[in-house]
Amino acid sequence: MTYSVKLAVVGDTGVGKSSVSERFARGTFTDYPETTIGAAFLTATSKRPTHKVKFNIWDTAGQERYRALVPMYYRHAHVLLIVYDITNRSSYDSAKRWQREVTGVMGDAPLYVLVGNKTDLSASRQVPEAEGRRLAEKHGAVFAEVSAKTNDGISRLLATIADAVPELDRNAVEASGVTLAQPVTGEGRSWTSCCY
Ligand code: GTP
Ligand code: MG
Repeated sequence: MTYSVKLAVVGDTGVGKSSVSERFARGTFTDYPETTIGAAFLTATSKRPTHKVKFNIWDTAGQERYRALVPMYYRHAHVLLIVYDITNRSSYDSAKRWQREVTGVMGDAPLYVLVGNKTDLSASRQVPEAEGRRLAEKHGAVFAEVSAKTNDGISRLLATIADAVPELDRNAVEASGVTLAQPVTGEGRSWTSCCY
């Protein structure tokens, strides 16, 4: 069974949204990436023992000037990644605001994932891991600390999200009759996209 899932990534500029997305999609890291303009689209796949997930990733721009565009990209997302930088307290405060904003628009339908990035810089940590974990628990979100730079926690996070997808699908079918499960056609494994 293959699922096609829309995953949106939000958070302040510089927290590493594009870096985490690049890790998911290509397994690589760029030291000096360009700030995202508007949004970027990437795909990633995760193979689990029981199913496979194709993630359609919308990596949004964190800069204030693009702020008004962001809801366009997270609308109808099945999975919402809210990213902060563990060395930057204000990015964590923003993550709380993102959680409030997105929940206001999307309700409890998507799977929320709170991600503290840059664990390789833990010597400059400003947000204790337990604090991030508590916030995630409060909102029923998955929590993970990762480093896009060193790859710490990245594949575990993608697998955790992929493992939660069949349950998300059951809820989506119940709510709207729409399934995220996609027929896989032919050798080329093309997915028809639906659902957003
Ligand atoms: P915007 O596109 O402006 O919203 O930023 P962004 O959230 O996409 O951040 P981006 O991925 O462009 O990364 C910002 C900076 O942080 C870059 O210099 C990255 O190389 C760096 N960076 C990203 N992830 C990590 C990490 O895990 N560790 C360290 N040390 N640096 C990181
Ligand atoms: Mg970016």
